[in-house]
Formats: sequence, C-alpha cells, structure tokens
Amino acid sequence: MTRVLITSALPYINGIKHLGNLAGSMLPADVFARFKRAAGAEVLYICATDEHGTPAELAAAEAGQDVRTYCDEQHQLQHDISRAFGLSFDWFGRSSNPPNHRLTQHFAEVLESKGLIEERTDKMVYSVDDRRFLPDRYVEGTCPHCGFEKARGDQCDNCGNLLDPVDLINPYSKISGSRNIEVRDTNHLYLQQTKLESRIRAWVDANSANWPHLTRSIAYKHLDEGLIDRGITRDLAWGIPVMKDGLPRPGFEDKVFYVWFDAPIEYIGATVEWAESEGTDWERWWRTDKGAGDTEYVQFMGKDNVAFHTVSFPATILGSEEPWKTVDRLKAFNWLNWYGGKFSTSEKRGVFMDTALELLPPDLWRWYLTANAPEGSDTAFTWEQFQSAVNKDLADVLGNFVNRIAKFAESKFEGVVPAGGEPGELELKLYADIDAGIADLTAQLEAIEVRKAAQALRALWVLGNEYLQVAAPWTAIKTDPARAAVVVRTALNLAALYARLSAPFIPFAAEKIAEAFNQGWPLAWPSDGAAVELDRLSVGQTIRAPEVLFRKIEDEQVAEWGERFGGAG
Ligand code: MF3
Ligand code: ZN
Repeated sequence: MTRVLITSALPYINGIKHLGNLAGSMLPADVFARFKRAAGAEVLYICATDEHGTPAELAAAEAGQDVRTYCDEQHQLQHDISRAFGLSFDWFGRSSNPPNHRLTQHFAEVLESKGLIEERTDKMVYSVDDRRFLPDRYVEGTCPHCGFEKARGDQCDNCGNLLDPVDLINPYSKISGSRNIEVRDTNHLYLQQTKLESRIRAWVDANSANWPHLTRSIAYKHLDEGLIDRGITRDLAWGIPVMKDGLPRPGFEDKVFYVWFDAPIEYIGATVEWAESEGTDWERWWRTDKGAGDTEYVQFMGKDNVAFHTVSFPATILGSEEPWKTVDRLKAFNWLNWYGGKFSTSEKRGVFMDTALELLPPDLWRWYLTANAPEGSDTAFTWEQFQSAVNKDLADVLGNFVNRIAKFAESKFEGVVPAGGEPGELELKLYADIDAGIADLTAQLEAIEVRKAAQALRALWVLGNEYLQVAAPWTAIKTDPARAAVVVRTALNLAALYARLSAPFIPFAAEKIAEAFNQGWPLAWPSDGAAVELDRLSVGQTIRAPEVLFRKIEDEQVAEWGERFGGAG
C-alpha cells in the first residue's frame, strides 16, 4: 500500500482564518487526503496551530489575555471550525506542545554540533520605556523602501519588502507607542545557511522536478539571490527556550527560538503528538532509516511560505545530517483576494471561516474554493461568481440530477433499484464517457491540479443530466417499462457513483447521497470500469431521495452580503 504524508501550512494562532487561508493550503490538502484515502493509500494528514512569535503575543495582549490562555482558546476554536469545514486532519497539533519543544531543541543542538550555529552580537531595537527589545512586529515605523508609515519590523505590508527592525525610520513601540527607541547590542544564534547553500541547491536540483512552476521559481529565486545566515532566536518570553546541555543557555534566559525556526519542525512534532495519542510509531513517517523512505510527502501552502519550505526548513533538516524525510511534492497557491483587494481582519473585509459557516453549509464554500482555487494566478472572490458556482454547478447540475432520478424511482419504482432490461447503445456511450471522465478526474487529483479536477468532476455531473435528457425514462415508462428500468437503474448507480467521486470536494453532500442510497461510508474510489461501477447497486435494494442537497443562493442574499462584508472597490 502506498503511504502518503500530507501537511498543510500551519495556521497562525492569532484569530480565525479567512477563506483565502482555507483555499490556499488546508482545503486543497484535505481534498487530496480524502482522495488518497479513498483510493486506498495509507494517509497521514497533519496540521497544527503555529503558536509562537510576535503575532501570538500581540494578539493575546490585544485580547487582554495571557498568551497561554489565549492560545488554548484559539487552538480549540480553530480546531472546531476546521472540523466543521470537514477538514479531515488525522491530527491537529500545537507548535507549543512538548514534542515540538524537544525536537526544536534537538535540531538546534545537532546543528551546533555540526558547526552550523554561531552566536553573534547583534544590534537590535530596544524600547527604553518598555524596558525590552522589540523584535519583528513589536516595532513599527516608516518603510525605508516605500515610505509607508506603518511598516512592521519584519515586513512592509505596503511594498512587501522584508525588513530588519533596525532599518525602520522613525520607529515606535507597538506595545506602548513610545518613540524612545535605541539600538542596543544583544546576542543571538545564527544558522549559517551560507555554509549550507550548495547542499540546499543540490537538494532542490534533485527534488524539484515534480514541483509546480510557482514553487520551483520561488526556490531558485532565493538560491540565486544568495542565502544569508539567519537569526533563529528572539528576545521574547513566549516560545521554545534556548538550551545548552540540558540547561538554559547562558545569556539566552530571556530569549526563545524564532517562530519560523520551530514552526515547520512542528510538522514532525504534531506527528509525534498523533503517535503518542494513538499509541503508534511516528518514525516510519519521518525517518528514512525507519521506513519513511517509502512515504510520499506532500506539502500544501500559500506562496509566501514557499521560501521557508524550500530553503529554510531544508537547511534545518539537511544541516542535521540525520536521516529525516524531506518533501517530495510541494504544492503552492497564489492569493485568493476579496474583490480587487486583500482580505483584511482589521478592516473587516472579506469572509472568515466562522462567519462563512453561519451563512451557508461548508460544501458550498468548499466547492467554490476548489473550483476557483488560486492556482495559476491570484484569484478574486466575488459573491456573483460564488452564487453562480453554487446555483449552477451544485444545485442545477448535481443536486438536480440526484433529486430527479431518486424522486422518479420513488414514485414509479417504489423506491427500489429496478430489475429488467439490458443496457443499450446509450448506456454503452455513457460508460465510455464516464470512463474517460473518471480517468481525467483521477489524473488531475493525482497531479493535484485542483481546478482541473473540479472541472473534470463537473463534467462528469453534466453527463448524468445529458443522459437523462436523452434516455427520458418518464417517456419510456409509458411504452417500454423494461427500458425505463434500465435507465433508472443506470441513473441511480450514476448518482451513487457521484457520491464517491464528489466526496473529496463536497463530503457532506456526498455522505447524504451515500446514506440515501444505503451505501457505506467512507466511500472507496472507483477502480473498475463504468460498466461495473454503474451496476453496483443491488437490484431490489431501497433508495430514497436525499433531503435537499443544495439550496440556491438568492439575489437578495448576494445583495445583503455584498453590503455587509464590503466588496466591490
Ligand atoms: N503560520 C505560517 C503562516 O500562516 C505558516 C507556517 S507553516 C510552517 O504563514 F512551516 F511553519 F509550519
Ligand atoms: Zn514599504
């Protein structure tokens, strides 16, 4: 059996994620995981909250909570909302949990033993009034590149340039607003990526053949620009302590590891959490000396994360010279925008995962966000497109087909799969079309071409309506009951087959169909030809029309939501 390890980028702990986060990592990873499981692979799908760093501390301060309590609550919220969206993680961990502490400290120690860690004295921004250093987002000021006045210490949101806090012009403390800022010396650990450059490049050369263009181009852009040694500690209280020989490292008592050092290690940490809870072994997923060599490891993330996964995390792993499993396929996504602009928490632009579920069931979002995945380029969410995807694809095409044939079977065949008749020319043509359609869908899913997979699925749904239109059982039943029975039997089988093919995308509706047709759950991916697949339901078994699968979105709703969530412009 093939074994597939799947991770989606770990969402920051600070607040419920918006639909863009969902569309660009977790949801496509879930579709892939569901598909692979159905196809018989042994799948481990891992995610976790990314809990360290200044975003967590700042958000906790804003919420008036201590960081740990804040993280506990937010983790639970994100966990629940992800489940409500049907995200089928095998484990949703926390980067603040003990396994990640142990692993992060282990990596730092091993890297140091390989001569790849250097302690350096750095100039850092210090707030006299707050009596502390101000790393990353704790300091804001004017961007030296574009003049934007609210650039954060680590990055300018206006021009996108990565910054060093000491580069900011007119810096002020994000904690107190104080402009009484000095630059002071402090010690930090640096991972000497310059020493690893050729090893990382060789690894990218050897592994990137299967990466999509977006991933590869970002990786080489960073390599070609030349790697720099990277500070992996910060002057913060919340995070993973810096140790030496089992004790707090002298001079680092008030410092922790940088969030981007420990976060990717939590992919492993979360696997350990999972294994501990299951009483099973994690090493066969991560250690090539313990069997992980047979695992295919697939990562999902937004494009802003690619450099960290193609250069920084590999630097940690390769630098250790230990037999860790590295990524095989790295699927990156562009941005899902909100109309012309960005999603924005502070400006209340766009829909967040919790609100989305208050408005409509998860499958509607899942369908829209996969069919319009920001794959080849950035994509804009619009209510109009969303409405059309839901009403046309889900309600008119899939929902209508299933409902129509199930209702007809209820009224004319007592709700059982009818016997009689033999498949004719029309059915043979349908088999051929379905075979081709499943082959296409399967290939697109294997290739993680999310949009093309959704298109292939929709094309399969369309075949059902076309078939019914031509085969017209409602006419046949008047003159040729055996013929009507063939058509109804075939169409009912087709509806059941749709449940299987659609389950990775719209698991809730798929389960409803499966239930109404007395199929088990979860459903296996079809592996035989259509002639067999469309003859699976037992003759005489009962079926019923499922409750409404998809309610249409009304124009008034679109108008109301457009107002409420901001949009055009
Ligand atoms: N929290 C980061 C973000 O949302 C992603 C972290 S991915 C991992 O951009 F590699 F650190 F795990
Ligand atoms: Zn700027």
